Amino acid sequence: MKIILVVGARPNFMKVAPIMRAITRFNAGLRDSKSNSGLNEIHPVLVHTGQHYDAQMSGAFFSDLALPEPDIFLGAGSASHAEQTAEIMKRFEPVLIKENPDMVLLVGDVNSTLACALVTSKITLSKGNPRPLVVHVEAGLRSFDRDMPEEINRMLTDHLSDLLFVTESSGTENLKREGIPSERVFLVGNTMIDSLSAYRKKAEHSDILDRLELRPAGAIIPYALLTLHRPGNVDDREGFVEILEGLQPLAASHRIIFPAHPRTRKQMEVLKLGSYLRCELSKAGGAMKETPSGGITIIDPLGYLDFVCLMKNARLVVTDSGGIQEETTFLQVPCVTVRENTERPITLQIGTNVLAGTRREGIREAIERQLQQPRKGRLPEKWDGRTSERIVEILAGHLRMQAK
Ligand code: UD1
Repeated sequence: MKIILVVGARPNFMKVAPIMRAITRFNAGLRDSKSNSGLNEIHPVLVHTGQHYDAQMSGAFFSDLALPEPDIFLGAGSASHAEQTAEIMKRFEPVLIKENPDMVLLVGDVNSTLACALVTSKITLSKGNPRPLVVHVEAGLRSFDRDMPEEINRMLTDHLSDLLFVTESSGTENLKREGIPSERVFLVGNTMIDSLSAYRKKAEHSDILDRLELRPAGAIIPYALLTLHRPGNVDDREGFVEILEGLQPLAASHRIIFPAHPRTRKQMEVLKLGSYLRCELSKAGGAMKETPSGGITIIDPLGYLDFVCLMKNARLVVTDSGGIQEETTFLQVPCVTVRENTERPITLQIGTNVLAGTRREGIREAIERQLQQPRKGRLPEKWDGRTSERIVEILAGHLRMQAK
């Protein structure tokens, strides 16, 4: 049984790494087991589309998460949505034909996810072979905001998928409402949380707190962690300034550490927003030009372990990311999400997340509330670090049925 697993952009790596490990464990279990269960070993083929390619956006995650080198690198790179999606499709199709897998497993909602779903769902293989099944991990999430490219990617990928693995109950409800047959949908939990639960202890050994002078006298000073990269938040000056203004009271009382996505860093330069930063670091490991008690410190994107360490020890996280809303819920760290909506409502209902909107007053109020009385969270159903195991068991069972 052969499965192609696709990664492309930063948020994919931590979702696929535990599935790769679960496949290895599954195969080892089959070899050890005396009984003949009728199951075959799974042969994984890791394909990297190259949507993200920098060491900081991609390479660091392979080493931090012990992901094997990709078997196939497509090198698609950056471009407009249409060009990037088309380039990935063009480069993925011959790989699919050559490898002829039983399944293609896709995660999340990035352009690579949709591109490979489209190719797989329409591929014609030789000798009357059935096309590979499309498997979507993190299916069913909906922000109901079609201005987000990710929402389009999520909806279309779900409707092209044969097996859909869901992280939270809203996903199951959304798919039901959209007419996806329930026998194809499995609420299994969250593979990104598998990575977090596997690596959070190791992340404690990161020296990032010292490198950023957040532990000057042995004790961690209260600091906030900020990430912003949504085009809707950083692409125009007015919206970006509104958010930075919303952060000013927090910046007056706390250091804010801001690992900036390449898009965000570029926009800050183009839009000349340097006045909002109190100090500048070229590299997370470099020397700081000044050490203020507050202010926004912009740094390069971080690897997985450094970022988890910063997230875990932060007084507050402010973000527009999807995954960080979930990771802070798991780590029980207060989170303020700078968006008008979220496709991950469980983080608001039972997690530690609050939605602030994108106007300065809303952001200030949400931060103030979270600092004074942080939300207390509970863990969503099945966010227990064993989601990948469940997925691999279901896939193996499915492949066995197909083989009969
Ligand atoms: C993509 C995903 C988004 C995800 C984000 C995480 C889509 C539609 N969006 O957005 O859902 O939250 O990744 O980071 O797939 N760049 C580099 N180095 C890289 C990659 C990108 O410098 O390794 C720069 C390029 O200038 C590029 C820009 O970042 O044009 C945007 O990259 P792109 O992959 O188009 O989208 P993201 O904003 O990263």
